Amino acid sequence: MKRTITYAAAVGFLLAGATAQAAGPGDAEAGKTKSQACAACHGADGNGENPIYPILAGQYRDYLAQALTDYRNGSRNNAIMKGFAAALSNEDILDLSAYFASQSSNLHTPKPE
Ligand code: HEC
Repeated sequence: MKRTITYAAAVGFLLAGATAQAAGPGDAEAGKTKSQACAACHGADGNGENPIYPILAGQYRDYLAQALTDYRNGSRNNAIMKGFAAALSNEDILDLSAYFASQSSNLHTPKPE
């Protein structure tokens, strides 16, 4: 009996962990509002039209958060993004990353010519 209870608790714990990971840190809805500052270059949903600006839509949330943190602290050096990232709090970074990661991406493998 005791073993069954332990097992049930373990499964419950794992499920709770999986759900938390799916939702992840950051609020995508808040990120959508904050992303207006990014839309001119990266597009409203992170699929910018101009190839000089990276597509953010569908990128891993952790990757986006890492990139923004690196721009902010200067370990990734880009004059344009440094200015935008400097104004972001940790919460902004997590919200923006959650938003862009949740968008479907226009990225595709180019076909050989
Ligand atoms: C004026 C144009 C412009 C605006 C506005 C802008 N970005 Fe960028 N962003 C760039 C450019 C250019 C790069 C590529 C820089 C590089 O080579 O590292 C970039 C790169 C990035 C990257 C790294 C992508 C990758 O694939 O490594 C992230 C993440 C990002 N921007 C997020 C944002 C967010 C979030 C905002 C709004 C707060 C924003 N950007 C606003 C021009 C812009």
